[in-house]
Amino acid sequence: MPQVFIKTYGCQMNERDSEAVAAQLMARGHTLVADESAADVVLLNTCSVRDLAEQKALGKMSAVAGVARKQGRQPVLGFLGCMAQSRGQELAHGSVRLVVGTQKFHRIGEHLDALLQGRESHIVDTAEEAGSQSTIREHLIDPAGPRAVTAFVSIMQGCNQHCTFCIVPATRGAERSRPIPEIVDEVRDLVGRGVREVTLLGQIVTSYGRRDYPVRDGRSAFVQLLEAVHEVDGLERIRLTSPHPKGYGDDLIDAFGRLPKLVEHAHLPLQSGSDRILRQMHRGYTRDRYLGIVERLRKRHPDMAVTTDIIVGFPGETEEDFEQTVSLCHEAAFDQAYVFKYSQRRDTPAAAMPDQLSEAAIEERHARLLTRVNEIASRKYAERVGRTVEILAEGPSRRNPSRFEGRTRDNRIVIFEGDERHRGHLLRVQIETASAFTLYGIPELAGVSDVEESGSSDAPSLS
Ligand code: 5AD
Repeated sequence: MPQVFIKTYGCQMNERDSEAVAAQLMARGHTLVADESAADVVLLNTCSVRDLAEQKALGKMSAVAGVARKQGRQPVLGFLGCMAQSRGQELAHGSVRLVVGTQKFHRIGEHLDALLQGRESHIVDTAEEAGSQSTIREHLIDPAGPRAVTAFVSIMQGCNQHCTFCIVPATRGAERSRPIPEIVDEVRDLVGRGVREVTLLGQIVTSYGRRDYPVRDGRSAFVQLLEAVHEVDGLERIRLTSPHPKGYGDDLIDAFGRLPKLVEHAHLPLQSGSDRILRQMHRGYTRDRYLGIVERLRKRHPDMAVTTDIIVGFPGETEEDFEQTVSLCHEAAFDQAYVFKYSQRRDTPAAAMPDQLSEAAIEERHARLLTRVNEIASRKYAERVGRTVEILAEGPSRRNPSRFEGRTRDNRIVIFEGDERHRGHLLRVQIETASAFTLYGIPELAGVSDVEESGSSDAPSLS
């Protein structure tokens, strides 16, 4: 049976797509391997959001092809996902024999069969497909393996916002949403397999179902979906990514707190703090409106974590525009900010705008902003020391597997002395110390049973 290696670049949606591909291939009898050097099939699921991501995938593929050539092997090499969608045919040369776009992940099994059996030599499949939003469904959960505690659920595909810097409308197509009952069934099935927390995924989740479900009692389709998912017994936490600031209407802000499973974390991609640049970016809000949303969220819940994405060096960005972004970061006091260097993307309106900044200028502003936002964010971590927080224990710490890690409701990683008995349980943890982006704590044993009584039915024995 073929051995398949899959590597993913980019966002959580790409991770989720790869997981669905892996599950599909395993169901067809393929084996997943962690080392590409002996694999029969090497698939790279790509990202196009910035040039760097594309270069990484291209570099990796040429390294894989080079090693295979030296070994005298001819594995099937394939590009999947966003870069495959936008470049298509041009990627299918030499030993790259499979190119599959973002609406065709579910066809990869058939395509690999055709290639491995020699019925086809090259396949490029980047067509649109009606209903493809409902094909990212299968999860990789090994019933014999450690319990899966968290899972991603894809609720929609595509994006209609057309931000001028962004390639995504071209790679992912127009917005298409899955029906609410289908999503709820998937969540219920996951919970039945041990999952306690789901992250609802989409390019702009707050636009979910706009054309399919009319506003009801003042509640948007997305809030209706949250309410439906919230009903699933045994589910403890709901996260979402990524929303758009324009989607934070009163109904969504009200849902924080009203729906206890919806965690206190709002990602609010800012992109720029300058009204002039926001207009050029086609973001659809102003600085004031953005800050108003942050204020309403924090009023709803004082500990609401607000995180963001920012692009520095958008065409025409002056020092004054940049300073507006810096000052907004101070005003909003972001709990975490991801700062990106503007990257020109093919066929986007911003790529053709005048006054593109030099790489050096972008680098310099990027470094300056990063220092500021990291100072603000690490202060927020330090403020947590001495508090008792609820965490969901996920598994061994990625950095130090002899310890365990979990996340707070507001999405901070907490490392603690734990073991498999803790996995999948809500614990109350006293925070002892903090580093820039990690908390360290000690579980309160008494607190565990408190949480367990109101939460899960299978409490661990910690005595
Ligand atoms: N250049 C730099 N960053 C970008 N992003 C999207 N497009 C670009 C681009 N052309 C960033 C945005 C978005 C995040 C996922 O990636 O900040 O929110």
